Amino acid sequence: KEKVTTTKLREMKKDGQKFAMVTAYDYPTAQLVDQSEIEMILVGDSLGMVMLGYDSTVPVTMDEMIHHIKAVVRGAPHTFVVGDLPFGSYNVSVEQAIENSTRILKEGGADCVKLEGGFPVVETVRALVRAGIPVMGHIGLTPQTASQVGGFKVQGKDADTAKRLLEEAVALEEAGIFSLVLECIPAELAKLITERISVPTIGIGAGVHCDGQVLVFHDMLGLFQRFVPKFVKQYANLGSIIKQALNEFHAEVVEEQFPELNHSFSISEEVLAAIKG
Ligand code: KIV
Ligand code: NA
Repeated sequence: KEKVTTTKLREMKKDGQKFAMVTAYDYPTAQLVDQSEIEMILVGDSLGMVMLGYDSTVPVTMDEMIHHIKAVVRGAPHTFVVGDLPFGSYNVSVEQAIENSTRILKEGGADCVKLEGGFPVVETVRALVRAGIPVMGHIGLTPQTASQVGGFKVQGKDADTAKRLLEEAVALEEAGIFSLVLECIPAELAKLITERISVPTIGIGAGVHCDGQVLVFHDMLGLFQRFVPKFVKQYANLGSIIKQALNEFHAEVVEEQFPELNHSFSISEEVLAAIKG
């Protein structure tokens, strides 16, 4: 498979060709995605919740992001990799945002960075793009600042918020983003935004009209047990398959059915006799 480029993604939008992105946080998962038809991998800061067991994405550090991005990049040479900027890594100053984004590209090896927010990050986005860093935006429900937007719920149901989100999408495009994640907004609003801007939108809980769709790996495969958001479709329940396999292993150990002869090594009768003396 050929790695998509930001130019290719824009062409796909123009041609009405949809694409998919999924999160990955480690080498074996990245390899599986790399061998699939999925166009993009997001090493999201959702890793804090689904991989590290934090209550939110807020505690995730730059070092944690880099650690996981490096593993994913090694496993997915043919897939476009997006690296999330974690909370607190781009809001202190434009310089800080450029330094941390540069780490994600140079140390991590990702193809671009993603950051959350609308108007408050427009100038940062402009500076990053000017510094040569491809930037993916992310508006709607922004988990890093969920408490500011009233918790984990749909954004843009009222006219004022919806209008602001539309204006933020336009402002981010003007600042130079090459793509925009729309999280948890009404499908009609996502359609309006998708029609209004020329860079591809990628929806999660944003309806079918976005140019692409993204899901969290652990959500779509039944590997995250704490809750299942309404916008998630579970394409498999690997959690129950894994638990069944673990219990089978345990039962076979208890019943001395594992290991079998073909999993074991042996020595000849003579050697055994010599050992026993
Ligand atoms: O971190 C993440 O997984 C994300 C997606 C929900 C878009 O940002
Ligand atoms: Na994220």
